[in-house]
Amino acid sequence: MYRSRPTEKLKDDVLRFLSSMGQDHSILYYDIVGSEAHSIMLHEKGHITHGELKKILSALEEAKKSPTSLRTEDYEDIHEALEAFVIKRSGIDAGGKMHTARSRNDQVVLDIRMKIRDDINQICAALANLVQGLVERAEENKQVPMLMYTHLQQAQIGTFSHFLLSYAYGLMRDMERLYLVYHRINQSPLGACAIGGSSIAIDRKRTAMLLGFDSIIKNSIDATSSRDAFLEYASTLAILTSTLGRIAEDFIIWSTTEFGYIELAEPYTSTSSAMPQKKNSDPLELTRSKSAIVTSNLVSMLGIVKALPSGYSRDLQDIKAPLIGASAITLDTIKIMDHVVRSLQINKERMLQAASISYAIALDIAEQLVMQKKIPFRTAHRIVGALVNKAASKGNISLVKLEFADATSALKAHKVDVKPDELMKIINGMTPEKSLEARKSSGSPNLLEQEEMIKSLSQGISNYRTGIQKRSKMVEGSFDNLERTVRNYLEL
Ligand code: ARG
Repeated sequence: MYRSRPTEKLKDDVLRFLSSMGQDHSILYYDIVGSEAHSIMLHEKGHITHGELKKILSALEEAKKSPTSLRTEDYEDIHEALEAFVIKRSGIDAGGKMHTARSRNDQVVLDIRMKIRDDINQICAALANLVQGLVERAEENKQVPMLMYTHLQQAQIGTFSHFLLSYAYGLMRDMERLYLVYHRINQSPLGACAIGGSSIAIDRKRTAMLLGFDSIIKNSIDATSSRDAFLEYASTLAILTSTLGRIAEDFIIWSTTEFGYIELAEPYTSTSSAMPQKKNSDPLELTRSKSAIVTSNLVSMLGIVKALPSGYSRDLQDIKAPLIGASAITLDTIKIMDHVVRSLQINKERMLQAASISYAIALDIAEQLVMQKKIPFRTAHRIVGALVNKAASKGNISLVKLEFADATSALKAHKVDVKPDELMKIINGMTPEKSLEARKSSGSPNLLEQEEMIKSLSQGISNYRTGIQKRSKMVEGSFDNLERTVRNYLEL
């Protein structure tokens, strides 16, 4: 339908190659409301009569109600299909004016911006739920000692809740990134036209206002050529899903029989077609792989824009699939993780048992020597290292099972004022619970520290929720307002 210069029809296979219809169904609604706002503005500026506007708007309303009546298979994209539909319904004299002072180049990016704006609000809301789930589970389990690992080797005594809170902090930063990128997404490119604006008097601020945008993208080349806000958005999703991937990996490890710290609720596990005993954590495994897919979507997008000239090139069309795909995958993954977290069973006894027989209290013992006996940390490190070696050589017995003679030999090489029975007393007094009590540094798994984290995270969630609701209401409010304006014009 746009073929004013080429006189020959597109070949079928070329049409299929050019088509973006595969993704365009998800921007159709935005294309319709965008067209309504644009047509209203054209009327207000005196470029189309009230009668013409009425015809255009009623065709657009019809498309909104029954999107399937658009002949999508005959056109390159949804913009073309919608315009053809409007012209067919309202006639070329009215419908043929809808595309005045507009191009598909500003139109497509307008639609995507409205779609991503909604996606951000949905993802942020889902993220707030997930963070709340993590904080609630942390609150329930804040006194359950559990081993912490570095290099996947036993490191220090911590708590399961401390891990949950660490995830919550990571996701809150993801939320912050998403929240900030919204400002850069929520700007209107409409009216930039093909690349250089229009000689027809239009009001870009009016259409931006009708569609609930914060402002317009001033420069018409920038408005049609740039995709950096989408790249930034996809980057935040890649980072976010990598946070989810880490949580998934921790849970997968801890739910193995060997660890046995947690058990996934049955609806979030899969089984084996061959091995009857299997209860596999497939949703979490797919969470790991989704992170790879979102990252590769970002890389595809970066590859597409790399070294493109200014001004629309058709390459930009191929950004839509990875972008919209990244949104959908991320939203699903957050929701799955939310269910997993809320339904997870925690095996406190197993966690405590593993912590109680571990050498992970070694650092706590060394720190007690530093505090009580005022000896250099490096010396304390050596003494406790010798004790651990001794215990390991006796068949991995726990440190409390060591004898007076072992303490004596560990101290022997060092000129320190520590008596073997004093050392034994420190060892015997160091249970996992004591270790947590003694570790008071800010952000540590100490009970009071965790309570502070829970409080500040809860406050953070509630602040974001208020902000997200306000944003969603603003968008909904603008669309309601636009709908009322459309109805008024139709009834006049
Ligand atoms: N289907 C196109 C896209 O998704 C719309 C813009 C087409 N513009 C053009 N000048 N061919 O990007």
